[in-house]
Amino acid sequence: MRRLFLVAALALLLFLTSAAEPRTASAQSVSEAGALMVQAGRYEAASRRELRKAAREHRLAAAAAKKAKKTRAPGARKRLRRSARKHRVRAALHRKRARRQRKRAARLRRRAAQLGQVRAALVRRPPIPLGTAIDWSELQADPALERLFLDHFGQMSPENELKLFALQPRQGVYNFYTADRMVDWALSHGKRVRGHTLVYGNQLPHWMTSRAWTRDELLAVMRDHIETVMRHFHGRVAEWDVVNEAVGSWGDGWVHNLWYDVIGPDYVDQAFRFARAADPDAQLFYNDYGTELPDHPKTVRARALVSHLVSAGVPIDGVGLESHVSNQFKADGFEVAETMRRFAAMGLDVAVTEMDVRTNGGGPLAAELDTQRTTFGGSARACRMEPRCTSFTTWGISDRYSWFEVPELAPLMFDASMVPKPAFWDVEDWVRKP
Ligand code: G3I
Repeated sequence: MRRLFLVAALALLLFLTSAAEPRTASAQSVSEAGALMVQAGRYEAASRRELRKAAREHRLAAAAAKKAKKTRAPGARKRLRRSARKHRVRAALHRKRARRQRKRAARLRRRAAQLGQVRAALVRRPPIPLGTAIDWSELQADPALERLFLDHFGQMSPENELKLFALQPRQGVYNFYTADRMVDWALSHGKRVRGHTLVYGNQLPHWMTSRAWTRDELLAVMRDHIETVMRHFHGRVAEWDVVNEAVGSWGDGWVHNLWYDVIGPDYVDQAFRFARAADPDAQLFYNDYGTELPDHPKTVRARALVSHLVSAGVPIDGVGLESHVSNQFKADGFEVAETMRRFAAMGLDVAVTEMDVRTNGGGPLAAELDTQRTTFGGSARACRMEPRCTSFTTWGISDRYSWFEVPELAPLMFDASMVPKPAFWDVEDWVRKP
């Protein structure tokens, strides 16, 4: 009975101390680094065990070979030689396993060391804006959604309202009614606005897709649109996705949309030049999805495009990593950090622009939510630690309104009842807190 009481008291004490522990990003990184080091230690121990086994097999092989030399009977000699070969093969296998375990340990130690730098990085860097996409009609219809935005987010990306079909429904006839209300509302609440997007192959209006164009005609359309829109929002929209989703993973590496098909690959260069001329104060981004893993073929192509733009003197300031991923995403924050580092090394800013994480793994809810938390948190950490990462944006607030419209995917940081999920607390820690 007394023992039971002691165990209960100890459990209560542990609970209270862990609840009192501040949930800061740096505290979390310290414990995460510790866990990585422990795991690295396990791999190293496993590696040593494999090496011992390899040495034993090596000894057995040598003994068998020595015996074979001395044996006269051909049958026995053959058997001994076979046995020596078998032990040599086993020794090689154990050495290979040892190498693998050593590599794993080294990788974890490197990651732990990076985490060790987190505190310093957080102190050096001011908090970064946490943004979200907003659908204006949803926001107006749902005061709870509005409240969440005002309370927790510092930046807004209009989800569709700044796209070409919305702003220029007929050629040369611009409609800024909704976009203006939206942008001014955000600014009046002290929020930044990301402009999404000027030149995009999707959601083009009927007047563009229903006729044939010459290159010069379409370039004139592009120029007029970029100039009219950017001048209209000058001083209000500080940063634009000038070109969206131009790169494909396969084939010739381009998305074959109207802009590409009529103008050719230099439509990207032209769009950025028009944009800089229209608003020299705005930050100009190239934005794409599937470019989060540093060595994925699509990321490699995107880097090649951006590197061409930079070396050709095309005015580009940054790269947006959309980050529409799922719980099966085979990258962690460290790989995203490496992707960011490589773009930053070209002298560019980076931003996470549309993140959502689909929880369609089919596992238990708690495990799914935890994987989602790690994935969101990893990208947010990468962004906070990369000096050139300027903001972290999710593509919507609540699962009730995700663009996927499939409730089971639950890809956002607030659930369908507007309650924050574990991912939200992690992201908030990384982008905000010292
Ligand atoms: O405009 C019509 C409207 O007239 C009609 O009443 C309504 C009825 O559903 O549909 C409206 O069109 C919708 C459009 O958004 C504008 O609201 C389409 O159905 C809907 O499919 C469309 O989806 C958008 C999608 O882009 C289109 O490709 C999503 O809301 C938007 O979140 C999504 O955003 C893209 C980014 O721009 C680029 N990166 C990928 C991201 C997700 O696909």
